[in-house]
Amino acid sequence: MRTALVTGASSGIGAATARALVAQGYRVFGTSRRPGTPGAAVPGVELLALDLADAASVEACAAAAGDVDVLVNNAGESQSGPLEELPPEAIERLFRVNVFGAVRLTQLLVPGMRARGYGRVVMVGSMLASFPLAYRGSYVASKAAVKGFAMSARRELAPFGIGVSTVEPGSVNTGISERRTHYCADGSPYRDGYDTMLRHLDANEAQGISAERVAGTIMTAIRARRPRPLYAVGSNAPLVFGLRRVLPRSALELLVARRHGL
Ligand SMILES: NC(=O)c1ccc[n+]([C@@H]2O[C@H](COP(=O)([O-])OP(=O)(O)OC[C@H]3O[C@@H](n4cnc5c(N)ncnc54)[C@H](OP(=O)(O)O)[C@@H]3O)[C@@H](O)[C@H]2O)c1
Repeated sequence: MRTALVTGASSGIGAATARALVAQGYRVFGTSRRPGTPGAAVPGVELLALDLADAASVEACAAAAGDVDVLVNNAGESQSGPLEELPPEAIERLFRVNVFGAVRLTQLLVPGMRARGYGRVVMVGSMLASFPLAYRGSYVASKAAVKGFAMSARRELAPFGIGVSTVEPGSVNTGISERRTHYCADGSPYRDGYDTMLRHLDANEAQGISAERVAGTIMTAIRARRPRPLYAVGSNAPLVFGLRRVLPRSALELLVARRHGL
């Protein structure tokens, strides 16, 4: 029986992925910062404590999980704010959670996969990394960073039977809008544009695809004999990635801004 570890399995995409893995017969570990909280539990999933902002917690989680064949780096913080007003400590926390924690967890679990000659690592990125959006620079940069690590590691790990993919969801209706962290000061000169972007972002999320659909794409990456570098799902991904290949960057930039009322 293969073992999978899904970070951030207490809600949304992570919970749906953990359920899909259980249904496929995997032994599944999930994580939450508060694994004892009512509502965090997913049937059939063994919940471990993990706070990606805390390096010791990442080490302890990897040790508790033991041998893992499939790692889904899903947990993440959704942060918004104009570049000028993002506090340095907020950017640092975001990168600890979305990038450094995921990279460290991968470093700790890859040696076992390599020794056993099989592994799958999936980074849950965001389509915003491919289509950057105003007032979301820190988040866009963090998702581009994990994609960079994943893309580079593919050639390093393929000879050992380890597939590495990035899944870029578009808008997904998980309620993440309520959990975003915001950094836009009262009286900020960016307030109007920020609020407009946010209104559209939240409306897009409310009309977004289901977490189960993203979990289906993650399962495709896990089960592929030769996993692709990038899977995108939601927000008309096939159309917009097609446009990305033919349109000038400035036209794409305008399209993304218009979709968010800017
Ligand atoms: N929803 C979307 O529209 C969308 C679009 C593109 C990409 N994504 C990405 O998809 C992933 C999942 O998003 P979602 O919508 O399913 O979000 P969600 O429902 O808010 O779930 C986020 C998960 O991450 C965990 N988490 C948050 N901060 C953490 C930390 N510091 N350390 C460890 N775990 C932490 C949470 O667990 P606890 O609170 O229990 O610790 C929760 O299980 C994220 O990486 C997000 O950026 C989402």
